[in-house]
Amino acid sequence: MKILVTGGAGFIGGALIRKLLQNTSYKIFNLDKLSYASDLVSINQINSSSDINRYEFLNVDLADQSKTQDAVEYSKPDKIIHLAAESHVDRSIDSPSLFIQSNILGTFNLLESAKIHWEKSKKDIIDFLFHHVSTDEVFGSLGSTGQFNEDTKYDPRSPYSASKASSDHLVRSYFHTYELPILITNCSNNYGPWQFPEKLIPLVIMKAISNEYIPIYGNGKNIRDWLFVDDHVDALLQIWDRGVIGETYCIGGESERSNKFIVEYICEALNKKLNNKKSFKELIKFVKDRPGHDHRYSINPNKIKNQIKWKPKLTFEEGIDRTIDWYLNNQAWCKRVLLDAGYSGERIGLQKE
Ligand SMILES: NC(=O)c1ccc[n+]([C@@H]2O[C@H](COP(=O)([O-])OP(=O)(O)OC[C@H]3O[C@@H](n4cnc5c(N)ncnc54)[C@H](O)[C@@H]3O)[C@@H](O)[C@H]2O)c1
Repeated sequence: MKILVTGGAGFIGGALIRKLLQNTSYKIFNLDKLSYASDLVSINQINSSSDINRYEFLNVDLADQSKTQDAVEYSKPDKIIHLAAESHVDRSIDSPSLFIQSNILGTFNLLESAKIHWEKSKKDIIDFLFHHVSTDEVFGSLGSTGQFNEDTKYDPRSPYSASKASSDHLVRSYFHTYELPILITNCSNNYGPWQFPEKLIPLVIMKAISNEYIPIYGNGKNIRDWLFVDDHVDALLQIWDRGVIGETYCIGGESERSNKFIVEYICEALNKKLNNKKSFKELIKFVKDRPGHDHRYSINPNKIKNQIKWKPKLTFEEGIDRTIDWYLNNQAWCKRVLLDAGYSGERIGLQKE
């Protein structure tokens, strides 16, 4: 079995590749352009202690059609799992064109390459799959009630979510038009080790322990449905076994928390773990809201629970505790990736003039 993982140098792709290296005998190709959010240390740590011939890194930008096609032809995958994307809403507000290039054009280039490869090798590859990993943000913003499910109408409201929605539509169109065997998963917010410290949870931990003010956008009442990254990876793997081709599966942790709750929870946990005299909560500052900030996301995970028999292993409290400990123990990694990326936690996403 040969698997092509795109975006494997990122947060979720890295967690997936570590799991595949540890628990399967698949040959794994990791296609990534190596952006500011990428890091290969976690994979290289595992790979160097295992069978080196099972893993290969391909430095390719999906926006480049011919290099993408070469990579697919070279790896001849039985499965493609597509995670590569620009993924930060704030950055999509400042630089939307990058999101169009990577998330829309990149997905189109990958689909075209996959179609050519699949048509050529139909007799050799029995169960070809193109698995597209997407987000619940494509469904838009909920009020205080209601949930997203597989039938929810698309209503993206940021350049990021609009680019992901567009890529979902393209993937689905290749199933209906060309019968390319696809699956789409739309997952809620992930958190866990090795996430680039620009997203809420690692950013808050980093800010607190560096004694810098901790920003909360707007009134902090925006709600996300949180899922530990390894639970997302387990869902992706289980869908390969029990999912139905052409279908969509929504993945969620049933752990809705407001941003304010998350920030205060992390501060309290750090107060206890570090025995701080002053409360980290004193560092909290409410700042100007994100433009077009979605109010609430919530996934109804009944389909994946009933059909795939998946459910998260960790509660939110277990997952966040593990995550905080990991960031406390891996400060050197955080500082190094921030330095390499030329980012030091400053506010972005307020629209550059
Ligand atoms: N993080 C979340 O909470 C979350 C939730 C649901 C879905 N998703 C989706 O999961 C996927 C992975 O998210 P993540 O959090 O790991 O993101 P990430 O930003 O940590 O990693 C994305 C990786 O994709 C690579 N990439 C981007 N554009 C590329 C291109 N044009 N060519 C090749 N590689 C490219 C980057 O270099 C990076 O290594 C994304 O598609 C995202 O939309 C993320």
